[in-house]
Amino acid sequence: MFRTKTFVFSWLCFCHLVGVFADADEVKSVSVKEGDSVTLNTSLTEIQKDDQVLWKFGLNRSVIAKISQEAGIFNTYDGPDERFRDRLQLDNQTGSLTITNTRTTDSGLYEVSIKNSSSEAKNRFNVTIYNSVSLTVLTSAAAAAAVGSLLIGAAVGIFCIYKKYRKTDQEGKCHLLMLHL
Ligand SMILES: *[C@@H]1O[C@H](CO)[C@@H](O)[C@H](O)[C@H]1NC(C)=O
Ligand SMILES: *[C@@H]1O[C@H](CO)[C@@H](O)[C@H](O)[C@H]1NC(C)=O
Ligand SMILES: *[C@@H]1O[C@H](CO)[C@@H](O)[C@H](O)[C@H]1NC(C)=O
Ligand SMILES: *[C@@H]1O[C@H](CO)[C@@H](O)[C@H](O)[C@H]1NC(C)=O
Ligand SMILES: *[C@@H]1O[C@H](CO)[C@@H](O)[C@H](O)[C@H]1NC(C)=O
Repeated sequence: MFRTKTFVFSWLCFCHLVGVFADADEVKSVSVKEGDSVTLNTSLTEIQKDDQVLWKFGLNRSVIAKISQEAGIFNTYDGPDERFRDRLQLDNQTGSLTITNTRTTDSGLYEVSIKNSSSEAKNRFNVTIYNSVSLTVLTSAAAAAAVGSLLIGAAVGIFCIYKKYRKTDQEGKCHLLMLHL
């Protein structure tokens, strides 16, 4: 009796652990530049007759696409605030979802569940749409800073060479000055 209980208990723990690990594994990170398209793939090579594919977005898990061959459903939806209007495409072979002309507000968690009469599988995607404008501003700021320090370096260099020709024992001080930059 005791043995049976222990066995069942450990088996439950084991299953729970496996569940936790499977969940943690399945978030795939995807990073896309604003305005570009992104395709979130299912693991299917071809949708079967009794497959049901459901795409959900965000914390509220709003349904944004649904395929059910049997029920003759092959739809995309506009999503919360109609944010995906005219920007979602479904692949009729694999059930993969393409988001066109991406916006930063498309960032978030996407989940696809693929269900048939005997099993259900889920995949999650953590999508980040990054803003190309702020990235350009950042890079040009960094470039300007780099050019700035080069100019200062050159100025010090010229100053040192000038000093060196006038008086050789100034050389050490110039090197120190350059090291501090
Ligand atoms: C989905 O598959 C396509 C074609 O194989 C690939 O180009 C794309 O990068 C994949 N998407 C992701 C998010 O991995
Ligand atoms: C989620 O749903 C709640 C209640 O329906 C709503 O107030 C909230 O704005 C929704 N959040 C998003 C991100 O759609
Ligand atoms: C899938 O879509 C393509 C074009 O988008 C179409 O030519 C084809 O007939 C469709 N196949 C099925 C099985 O609906
Ligand atoms: C259901 O899906 C699983 C996983 O893709 C597959 O191995 C299985 O053969 C499918 N069952 C049926 C009845 O189509
Ligand atoms: C998704 O990615 C963002 C930024 O890369 C990260 O901060 C966040 O924790 C991730 N969320 C999940 C659920 O993985």
